[in-house]
Amino acid sequence: MPAKELKITPIKNGTVIDHISNGLALEVLRIIGAHTLDKDSTVSVALHVRSNKIGWKDIVKVENMELSPRKVNAIALIAPTATISIIRDYKVREKRSVDLPERIVGVLKCPNANCISNQPEPIESEFEVTNRHPVILTCAYCDRETSDFLHHLA
Ligand SMILES: Nc1ncnc2c1ncn2[C@@H]1O[C@H](COP(=O)(O)OP(=O)(O)OP(=O)(O)O)[C@@H](O)[C@H]1O
Ligand SMILES: [Mg+2]
Ligand SMILES: [Zn+2]
Repeated sequence: MPAKELKITPIKNGTVIDHISNGLALEVLRIIGAHTLDKDSTVSVALHVRSNKIGWKDIVKVENMELSPRKVNAIALIAPTATISIIRDYKVREKRSVDLPERIVGVLKCPNANCISNQPEPIESEFEVTNRHPVILTCAYCDRETSDFLHHLA
């Protein structure tokens, strides 16, 4: 059999998040809220899989779930190489790379403890993407810049 082997059972309907930077699958599970899924939805995770594109990668496959734009944005921040495939009736219906919009709303907490978006009044955090390579976000409320997304996911 050629290199294209299937290491995870196929799913009928759901979402495949592939080409996740090596080691970040558990963060992706946290973002998609894998623990909130109903009992009939299997989540498969492959860690440290050989990839022609990015060396080593992780893969997450979730049955019966499609991702909200907010979740896709959060994944794009921590795993910009990820691709998202929608599976319907065992086939890939749609596949796209994650990409960052100009503004990221409600996904990250501002690292500035004094920022108005961190006060008890519920104001949604909002960042502008002010640099793309590397990604730097600037808080719309206090202008604090951040490039540490992993530790500030809301
Ligand atoms: N029925 C299925 N169940 C689970 N995963 C699937 C199913 N069909 C496709 N996939 C996965 O969805 C992703 C996209 O499928 P596709 O066939 O386009 O993969 P590919 O040829 O490896 O493309 P690429 O790696 O360039 O995105 C792959 O990770 C593949 O393993
Ligand atoms: Mg592939
Ligand atoms: Zn702020």
